[in-house]
Amino acid sequence: MTFPVVGSTNTQLKEKIKSSPGAVFDVIAADTQTGGRGRLGRSFYSPAGGVYFSAAYPIAGNEKNVPFFTLLSGLAVSRALEELTGAKTLVKWPNDVYLNGKKLCGILTERIDRGGRTHLICGVGVNAEIKKEDIPAELAGKMTSLRAEGLPVPDKTALIKRCVENLDALVYEKDLLNETSPDIVSELNEKSFLFGKPVFYQGRNGVCGRINEDGSINILFGEEEKRIFSGELLPISDFRSPI
Ligand code: BTN
Repeated sequence: MTFPVVGSTNTQLKEKIKSSPGAVFDVIAADTQTGGRGRLGRSFYSPAGGVYFSAAYPIAGNEKNVPFFTLLSGLAVSRALEELTGAKTLVKWPNDVYLNGKKLCGILTERIDRGGRTHLICGVGVNAEIKKEDIPAELAGKMTSLRAEGLPVPDKTALIKRCVENLDALVYEKDLLNETSPDIVSELNEKSFLFGKPVFYQGRNGVCGRINEDGSINILFGEEEKRIFSGELLPISDFRSPI
């Protein structure tokens, strides 16, 4: 179902699932969002010319590694973009897709437990047709679009379909919320935007290492390596001191 304008496709899909937990929902898409939501309570800039959609994934709820869903979502989108546009994108742990050092796509995953059923929602916003000159000044240098990078903009329905098919295969066919796959972990590491980059995490400077089979990422703080399971890693070059 595609709408010209919604507040947020994630919110709309969540409300539908909550009001009819037994029904089957798949995808809600929109041409524009007036209240696009990002991680950590942020807003997501969603003008016309983007591809915004949310897909529901019913799961049992007792899978061994549900948080891995976010990384699988990034991988599914990155693969779809390469398949349809040739773009060699990278996945920025845990939830963004980058192209040429800038954010091309944001992903917000959410979980709903209602009426004895569990759904995961994968919400994807791809900057597709936005022209370079229309990128707001505060996002310039951080955000890009397919068009701004001189890439073809695929048919939006085809892009959504491919993303959803790719994620279906990873979640259901390969059962990667329960099973570990060295091949998938290798692919995630090959596509890892942060690998080897200096990052700022919870007041400390570190260097990003590999993504692990449980979805965590290693950070080297001096001599000490830690597994990070959640939060935000800011590449040092992106960090702006408040003074
Ligand atoms: C982020 O950058 O922190 C994640 C952004 C996720 C944006 C997508 S657009 C479709 C879906 N609906 C939303 O409100 N958010 C997600």
